[in-house]
Amino acid sequence: MPTSRLVFVYLGIVFLFLISWQIIDAGSISQAWADFQPSLYNSATNSTSADASCERGNFATGSNAGSDISLPPDMKIIGLVFYGRRQYVQILDCYLKRNLKSNGGLFDEVIFAVKTDIEEDVKFLDSIVDTTPGYVKYERESIKGYGGSWEVALEHKNDILIKIDDDVVFIEDNAVSAIVKRLLENPDYFAVSANVINNPLLSYVHRGLGMYEPFFPEMEKPEPEQVNSSSWRVSELPSYDGPRDGPKGFSINGSTPAPYKGHRWLPVRERPFDIFKTPARDIGSEPGKPALTSWAIAAQTHYSFFQHLEQGDTHQYKFNTWDYHYHRLSINFLGIRGRDVAECYPFPVGDDEAYLTLRRPREIGRHLVVDGGGLVAHYAFGPQYHAHGGKGILWTDILDRYQAYADEMVCPFANRSAKSVVT
Ligand SMILES: *[C@@H]1O[C@H](CO)[C@@H](O)[C@H](O)[C@H]1NC(C)=O
Ligand SMILES: *[C@@H]1O[C@H](CO)[C@@H](O)[C@H](O)[C@H]1NC(C)=O
Ligand SMILES: *[C@@H]1O[C@H](CO)[C@@H](O)[C@H](O)[C@H]1NC(C)=O
Ligand SMILES: *[C@@H]1O[C@H](CO)[C@@H](O)[C@H](O)[C@H]1NC(C)=O
Repeated sequence: MPTSRLVFVYLGIVFLFLISWQIIDAGSISQAWADFQPSLYNSATNSTSADASCERGNFATGSNAGSDISLPPDMKIIGLVFYGRRQYVQILDCYLKRNLKSNGGLFDEVIFAVKTDIEEDVKFLDSIVDTTPGYVKYERESIKGYGGSWEVALEHKNDILIKIDDDVVFIEDNAVSAIVKRLLENPDYFAVSANVINNPLLSYVHRGLGMYEPFFPEMEKPEPEQVNSSSWRVSELPSYDGPRDGPKGFSINGSTPAPYKGHRWLPVRERPFDIFKTPARDIGSEPGKPALTSWAIAAQTHYSFFQHLEQGDTHQYKFNTWDYHYHRLSINFLGIRGRDVAECYPFPVGDDEAYLTLRRPREIGRHLVVDGGGLVAHYAFGPQYHAHGGKGILWTDILDRYQAYADEMVCPFANRSAKSVVT
C-alpha cells in the first residue's frame, strides 16, 4: 500500500476512535449522518439524531431496536413493572406497547407484578392486560412485601428482566435494546441501568454535561385562555421575567411549597445566566442528597428535559457507560439476568435496591453499570412526592406534559414499523 493511503487509513481510525469516545462531538456528526440517512428516521419519539449517534459511537443500537441483536434461542426479554398506580401507568402503557415484540420491540412479555389493593388501580390494570396480547398480570400474596416482585425471576432464569418503576413516564426507543446488548456483551456485569432522567446520581452527571436549563415556577395563576394544557413544548411558554435569583416566595432549595396545583415552570430566556441561581445548584454527587429529596430540582430536571426533547438534542445526555463502583443507585429501569436474581432470592434484607446495588454486586465482584445510550425519564421519588404534604412535584403540570408528549409522539405509533414521521 502506498504511504499516502496508509496515512489516510490511519487518520480514519483515529477519527473513529475520537468519535467513539466522544472526544469529537458525535452529536453534530450524527445530525449530518441523520440528514443523509433518511431511512433512519423511523422513530415516533423523534430521537433520530440520538439513535444515529449510537450507530456511530460505541453505544447500542438505534430505533430499529433489536434488529442487530441475536439472542440465545431459549432467552426471552421480559418487562417487569412493579405495578401500583394507574395515573402513571396510563402514560407508561404507550411505551410498553411500543416495546413489545409484536410491535417491533424486544419484549416477549410485560409482566405487571401487582403491589396494590386499590380497586381502581387493579381495574385499570385488568383493562389493559385483557386487551393487550403480551401483557401478563402477576398477583401473589407472596410478593406484597418490599422487593417481593423479584419472585418473577424464579420462572425466568434464562431470561433478561427489565425492571421498570410504574412512574417511568418516557422511554426512548433504543433504551431496552441498549441494556440487553450491554448485558449480552458483558457477562461479567451484574446489572445494567438505563440513563435515567431524575435519578440522583445521574442528575449530577447530566448537570455536568450541561443539560440543566434555567426555569422558575410561575407564582401567579395565568388566565385559563393563556394555558394550552395539551402542549408539552417549552417554546410555547412565556419567558420568566421576575427577579434573577428566583421569584418572591420561592426558595431554590425546595424549602417552600409549590404555589398552586397545576402550576407551570417558565424558562429564563435572558443570557448569560448562572445555573447556580436555580435549584440545580444543590444537586449533590451522592444519593440521599437534594437531587433525591428536592421537588424543585425534580421540576427543573423534567422541564429541562422537555426543552431538549423539543430541540431534538437529547443525544447530549448520553455517554458510553458509567460505573458506580458499588454505590447505591436508584433502580428505576434496570436490566438483570433472571438467573442472577433467582440465585439470591428471597433477598436476605428487605431493601431490594440496597441489596441489588450495594451488597450483592460486591459479594460476587460483579459491577452494576449505567448504559448511557438509552434514555428514560422517572417522574419522582417518595420525598419529592411527599414534600410539603404533596404540594411539591405533584402540584406542577409535569405529568400532563408527559401525557401530552406520549399522546402526540408515541401512542399513535405503537407499531414501530408503522410510518411515524412527525413533522
Ligand atoms: C407490527 O409490525 C410488525 C413488524 O415489525 C408486524 O409483524 C406486525 O404484524 C405489526 N403489528 C400490527 C398490530 O400491525
Ligand atoms: C395546543 O397545543 C397543541 C399541541 O401542541 C396544538 O395542536 C394546539 O394547536 C394548541 N392550541 C392552541 C390554542 O394553541
Ligand atoms: C433554604 O433557603 C432558605 C432561604 O431561601 C433558607 O432560609 C433555609 O434555611 C434553607 N434551607 C436549607 C435546608 O438549607
Ligand atoms: C425533531 O427533531 C428535529 C431535528 O432535530 C427538529 O428540527 C424538530 O423540531 C423536532 N420535532 C419535534 C416535534 O420535536
